Amino acid sequence: MFQFNFSPADSYEETPEAVGSSHQWLPAQKHEPSAAQIQAILDECGIEETTVGQTKIRYVNMESAAKRVQREGTSQFISHIFRDHTDLVPAVYEGGLKIWECTWDLLRYLAASDLQFNGKRVLEVGCGAGLPALFCALQGSHITLQDYNQEVIEQVTVPNVALNLCAAPFNGPPSPSTPTDLATLSSTATFYSGDWGGFVRLLSSQAEITVHEEKRGKCQEQKFDFILTSETIYNPECHQKLLDLLTSCLQEDGLILLAAKSHYFGVGGGTLQFTNFIRQKGQLDVKTHTTNTEGVKREILEMKFKAGKNENVY
Ligand SMILES: C[S@@+](CC[C@H](N)C(=O)[O-])C[C@H]1O[C@@H](n2cnc3c(N)ncnc32)[C@H](O)[C@@H]1O
Repeated sequence: MFQFNFSPADSYEETPEAVGSSHQWLPAQKHEPSAAQIQAILDECGIEETTVGQTKIRYVNMESAAKRVQREGTSQFISHIFRDHTDLVPAVYEGGLKIWECTWDLLRYLAASDLQFNGKRVLEVGCGAGLPALFCALQGSHITLQDYNQEVIEQVTVPNVALNLCAAPFNGPPSPSTPTDLATLSSTATFYSGDWGGFVRLLSSQAEITVHEEKRGKCQEQKFDFILTSETIYNPECHQKLLDLLTSCLQEDGLILLAAKSHYFGVGGGTLQFTNFIRQKGQLDVKTHTTNTEGVKREILEMKFKAGKNENVY
């Protein structure tokens, strides 16, 4: 259940990232997985499995991963989330250490669709455990995973990708981990942490680098056929940078699938407010699908570029 227990972040100095915002957001960075770290996490954390359509996805037990983050004290930055038992602290911890309800809606939606993921480039924004992206990777996609907190990427997302794409057979029953094959991991998945604003700038700078590399025959396309995201629109303060990310990263004929609740009490965001915002900005067409009939409404938004409106490119 949602438990928004927002408390002000500890005192920060103003930085350019904080201009126009009440918070100081973390810079974006790319992560290079370490085999030893993945192995230690997989050896220690419980492993769970879910079946979506015909696809089995394995993932580390989120409680054991969260306990590990807490025990390791890997980051003083988020240590107080454990003391305060909070689900989210804006710009400090954005909730990636648990699997939120709409992830399951998005997985069911992907499995029921006739979308083809083989050979496609998929970005999951605000991924946490990254199960929707993993579903696509298991159909043959290259996946890029982004979460705000580096602890989530290192302790949850990377091990989940290793569990599904490196251990053979990919979809075997839960078992002790096998040595992680880093070459397979890095040829199938790319990982980033930090704020959406910084993420767009980082991808943009990489795109500039790859223009030079292209001349040497090493082109890496930075745009995505599918962008997936679940439970990421609760904070209206972040909507403009999320929209900038979506429009910067989407291929001209690409598709965005966003799963969320119609309203997040106490914070103001939700699909109703976000849909109005998107329509007002005029870059994307939005179609809405309701995924439940009881309680707070949950929805999947399908978004595409309006014809001739792809102006926000780098
Ligand atoms: C409530 S969690 C949802 C996690 C996961 N998608 C799920 O459904 O289980 C929200 C996610 O949004 C991302 N997020 C929110 N605001 C962000 C921001 N300004 N920059 C980067 N990521 C952000 C965080 O990575 C966080 O994991």
